[in-house]
Amino acid sequence: MQSPKKSNSRPRTNAKLWGGGFTEELNALALEFSKSLELDCKLYKEDIRGSLAHVAMLGAQGIIEKSEAEQIAQGLRQIEQELDTGKFPFESAEEDIHLAIERRLHDLIGSVAGKLHTARSRNDQVATDERLYLRQRITELMDHLTAFQRALFEKAERHFGALMPGYTHLQRAQPILLSQHLLAYVEMFERDKSRYADCQRRLNVSPLGAAALAGTPHPIDRRYSAALLGFSGITRNSMDSVSDRDYVIEFISTCAIVMMHLSRLAEEFVLWSSQEFRFITIGDAFTTGSSIMPQKKNPDMAELVRGKTGRVYGDLINMLTTMKALPLAYNRDMQEDKFPMLDAAETTAASLKIFTAMLGATTFNLEVMRAAVLQDYSTATDIADYLAKKGVPFREAHEIVAQIVRHAVEHRVLLNELTLDVLHRFSPAFEQDVFDYLNPEHSPARKRSEGSTSPKAVKAQLRFWKKCWARASVWLLTDRLMLQNNGKQDAKVC
Ligand code: ARG
Repeated sequence: MQSPKKSNSRPRTNAKLWGGGFTEELNALALEFSKSLELDCKLYKEDIRGSLAHVAMLGAQGIIEKSEAEQIAQGLRQIEQELDTGKFPFESAEEDIHLAIERRLHDLIGSVAGKLHTARSRNDQVATDERLYLRQRITELMDHLTAFQRALFEKAERHFGALMPGYTHLQRAQPILLSQHLLAYVEMFERDKSRYADCQRRLNVSPLGAAALAGTPHPIDRRYSAALLGFSGITRNSMDSVSDRDYVIEFISTCAIVMMHLSRLAEEFVLWSSQEFRFITIGDAFTTGSSIMPQKKNPDMAELVRGKTGRVYGDLINMLTTMKALPLAYNRDMQEDKFPMLDAAETTAASLKIFTAMLGATTFNLEVMRAAVLQDYSTATDIADYLAKKGVPFREAHEIVAQIVRHAVEHRVLLNELTLDVLHRFSPAFEQDVFDYLNPEHSPARKRSEGSTSPKAVKAQLRFWKKCWARASVWLLTDRLMLQNNGKQDAKVC
């Protein structure tokens, strides 16, 4: 896509498009201040697609001549090509992409171009463009999420059985399988996908034909253009159609949750790659050096994902604040939605892509993780559970084990280095079999509950995801085919 800044042809105002009743040209500062072209030019494909459907409907309904509709459609296709190849002659006084395209259509086909805007306003046009844009971005983001889930799954499967400390409060809590930790993130991203799918389903209705706010006296068929655009239906209320930006807010809020999830893993990557943990080594291609300390390899990509999370939260607050207390229907404030919408979409996609690539280039130092578990007191809960099984009330067992841990710490020994004699000082319930419970490597396998970190339960999760993706790919394919068909319908609109 070309940048609209590149053009420096003779300035022209929008007088031709909306300035009929004005005696003065828009002040140069006012134009500069109110322009949105640099951002909304990213919606040019959606804008042209929407116009093609609209003009096809106008032709089919006999609101304009079929030949006129054909002429307009041909002009629009040429404009799309110009924009695709960077040959679109932007003019310096261009306000937004919608007016730029219409102005160019006038240049190409003359006054018949003016018929395109029959029974439509920029208000329903912009809302249509945004819905088309987000629908596509959501499909892509869901693909990025699946790719990331698969990368996590691949590590979880490859390192099945590897032990690591599980944390609460960032204190070692209980031994877990590395796969269980990684699969926890797969769960989070699955919920994100369902939030995106939900948002996509809700936004996939056409506002086109609401016109400025009240509808139109022309005998339009809103369902016709909606079907051409692959919308599942039309919006019910013309006022709501042009004043609604819930779909942008829902979209950004889902992006914010995705980023929040990514930031948690990013934080773990920063910690785990430190000298203190050494649980992972991030490949050189994804770390940076220090200009002064030669020994350093900094986890900048993880830090940036963590940092960009704040940026996407900002986009959400930006949009919520823009919409707060806006009276119905369209207000120019709403033009400000482009920045947060585009920024959230681009930042979230970029963060998912970089993390997926970085994860692929990350080595898990399994021996270091295992050694960490072997050298801590994280089997304490196992011993409390052991006593509870022998009939000691759990609260009492907890107290006993706390004393044992204090004793072990004071004597600088690990729990599995304690003798049965010493253990008997704390409770007569201990028997020889306690040593099996004191071995951290046996801890995960003792968990019996569904969804636990036991190898059996983790295997079940791995099987679940494998099955789930085999099925999902069929759905995805059907979905894609549907969108492709809609694309084809577009091509033969007139
Ligand atoms: N650039 C504007 C926007 O994105 C177009 C809509 C203008 N509508 C209006 N009534 N002035 O919001």
